Parts: sequence; structure tokens; C-alpha cells
Amino acid sequence: MKIAVIGTGYVGLVSGVCFAEKGNHVICVDHDKQKIEKLQNLISPIFEPGIEELMESNQKAGRLSFTTDLAQAVRQSELIIIAVGTPSLPNGEADLQYIEQAVIEIGKAMNSYKIVATKSTVPVGTNEHIQMILAMNTLESFDVVSIPEFLREGSAIQDTLEPDRIVIGLDNLTLTEPLTELHKPFTDQIFVTSIRSAEMIKYASNAFLATKISFINEISNICEKVGADVTEVAKGMGQDRRIGASFLNAGIGYGGSCFPKDTDALIQIAGNVDYEFQLLKSVVEVNKSQRYKIITKLEGSLGNLSGKLIGIWGLSFKPNTDDIRYAPSIEIVETLIRAGARLKLYDPIAMDKFRAHIDHPAIQWCESALEAATGADAVCLLTDWEEFKTAPLTQLIFIMEKPILIDGRNVFTHEQIDGTGIHYYSVGRPD
Ligand code: UGA
Repeated sequence: MKIAVIGTGYVGLVSGVCFAEKGNHVICVDHDKQKIEKLQNLISPIFEPGIEELMESNQKAGRLSFTTDLAQAVRQSELIIIAVGTPSLPNGEADLQYIEQAVIEIGKAMNSYKIVATKSTVPVGTNEHIQMILAMNTLESFDVVSIPEFLREGSAIQDTLEPDRIVIGLDNLTLTEPLTELHKPFTDQIFVTSIRSAEMIKYASNAFLATKISFINEISNICEKVGADVTEVAKGMGQDRRIGASFLNAGIGYGGSCFPKDTDALIQIAGNVDYEFQLLKSVVEVNKSQRYKIITKLEGSLGNLSGKLIGIWGLSFKPNTDDIRYAPSIEIVETLIRAGARLKLYDPIAMDKFRAHIDHPAIQWCESALEAATGADAVCLLTDWEEFKTAPLTQLIFIMEKPILIDGRNVFTHEQIDGTGIHYYSVGRPD
């Protein structure tokens, strides 16, 4: 199929590259000239393992190109995928201005029948709104479908090439066959449903995963008080297939560009139809307070934090990405600075983004985990990067002022810590 993808953020770029990899002809479009120039030179604006290799091979094969010319891309394509951002408005609602602008431009450019698919996460009813805007901007015929995206940052290519399922929301049933054929090379698990249900599946899925995380985090808080070990509890729970083992890692809570935004948006969507989503509101509140566990644990072992030197391992919201959006590290660092602490920060790849967000005289920027630990009164691990899992723990006792390690992601086992001389504190496990 000939496909135009509007928006080269995470979802758009990865989808475009993966559709090309499956043999389609894809043109990726973005307003941002610099971004498109980089992409044309095969430089990915996002850090995502494997993406540049796929960009190169598909561009060479003549299946993938990049342009700022939306109109031209639309005219050449049968399927137009909208993958522009839907950031949060101050009240938590999804901001649809970029979608609306893109739809107007698509409508104006259309020269024949097109299928317009939304991949951006949009509130229920948005695709009907898109149909209206398109109808006002073109005389050509078209269909609008919703094909939500479930990829995770850091494993986006694999998630897209081998997804658990693909959800296709459509109201014109004659599209079932061509759209199923388009997606068959990715998986046989294709679920066709109505547009409104597809829109809801995306929010419900993210809200459920966020709920699992906040649930296990609350269980971890109770574990600490009753002397149980949350990793053992999660393992035992996860063996029940109805529960499932994934997303039961206790820690300092979820961040990223999706869960915080989508949970807020779903609370708003419910509120707009006079429904109070009490459970999800609690999930969000639990997540907000969970990151402060680090501060409480630090104060528990060091007392007043003023003047203390704290090493931080990990700034990105999760490993294998340089994304710091809504990362727990942001509030933790800000709180420590307010408390008068001095900080030594290290992350394998998110340092530049973090520095652009927060720069302060209390911060020293380090080039390795060991450098961040040197002279520190305590080290806090905030992101479960592989690099930290294999850090030479036996050296900490020699280089730190006080060998205190606060593990916000439960990456170490007690066996790894035993014999190192480290005072180790984790989340929901006996110290
Ligand atoms: C999430 C969903 O997992 C994807 O399915 C979805 O497509 C995406 O949002 C989106 O809507 O675009 P992502 O935000 O990339 O993907 O990251 P996740 O791997 O889901 O992790 C989110 C946060 O939860 C991270 O901060 C992670 O550290 C935290 N987490 C995850 C936990 O604290 N515990 C867990 O057990 C799992």
C-alpha cells in the first residue's frame, strides 16, 4: 500500500519505518524542516534501538522517504496515518489542535478517495469530529478509521513488528478486508471493532497498566510494614494467568509521555459524561506520592538532607530511552535541591535532555555511575538501566562517603548486596 504518515514523533516514525519494512511505500511527513533533514540523512530524532538500521535499509530499497510537503504526500498515498501529538491541556484533557490542523491540511490536499487512520491517542468521539472537519475541507470521498498504537519506548520496533494484537476501529465494514490484509504481516491477532470502542481500548489499556503499577506500589508500602517482600509477592501473584506477571514491578512509580497524560485524559473523558473515575484518580494520586518514598528513605538514613551529597543513578523515565517526560527523577531532583542537598547526576543517555530541563549550581554532571557515587553520602537508583544492574558494587564502600544505596527500582538482590558493606534500602522489601 502507499502510505503517508503525518507526524514523525515516536508513534509516527516507528510506524512508518515498520510499514516500510513490511513492504509498503511510506512517506513520513513533518512540519519541522530540521527534523526532516536529519531523517533524510538517516539520523533518528528519537533514541530507539534498531531504528536507524531500518531507516537505512528501507530508504535504500526505495520504500521509505521523508518530506515536509504534506499535500504531495497525501496526493500520492491511499492511506493517510495521523500520528501527531496530543499533549495535555492544563485541565488534563487531550489537546487536539495538532490533529485538527493536520486534518484540515489533509482535506485540502486530497485529490481522490483516501482512508484516513488515526494512530494518535484521541478521546472517544474524536474520529467523528475528524470526519466532520475532513468533509468541510474536501469534496473527495474518504473513510476515517482508528488504529491505536500500543508500542513502548525502548522496544518500539519489536512491539510494532511483533505486536500482541492490532486493533482496528471502523464503521465502514468494506474496509475490514483491506485493512486486515495490510496488518496481517505483523500478526494474526487482529481485532476489528467500532471506532468508538477502538478509541476506548487505547485509554483503557494504558489506564489498566497504570493501575497494575500503582496497585503493586501500594502492596509494596504494606509489605514494608508487615515484613513481606513485594518481589516475592508479585512473583506469586503473577503465576496466576488471570493476573499475569508483567507490570508488577514495584518502584518509584510510572512516568513517560503516555501513562500520566492518558490517565488524566481518561479521568476527563469520564468527567465530561458525568462519571467520576474514582479508581483511576487514586491510581494517579498513588503514583504521585510513590516517588517521594526515595526522599523519605534518604531522610530515614541521613536525617536532614541539607548539605548532603547525593549521587543519582538514572534520569530517564525508564531504561533504553533518553525521554525524561514526567520522569520521577524530575520531582526527586527538584525536591532534593529544595532540601539543600548537593547532587551528582548520571544517566547513560538522558543527561543532555535533563540538563536542558533543570540546571542548577547544586548539580554536578557525571560521566559514569562510579563518578556519581564518589564522595556521596548516598546513591539513589531511579532508572533500571542494565548498566546499573552490573555496577561494581564492591567498590562503593571505598569511594562513597557513606555506603548507602537506595534502590528505587528493586534491581539488586540481597545476595548481590551481602558482603559488599553497603547499607541497602529498596522498595517493599526487608532492608
Ligand atoms: C506505554 C504502554 O506500555 C504502551 O503499550 C503504550 O503504547 C504507550 O505507553 C503509549 O501509550 O504510547 P511507555 O510509556 O513507552 O509505554 O513505557 P512502559 O514500558 O509502559 O513504562 C511506563 C512507566 O511505567 C515507566 O516509568 C516504567 O518504569 C513504569 N513501570 C512499568 C513500573 O514502574 N513498573 C512496571 O512493572 C512496569
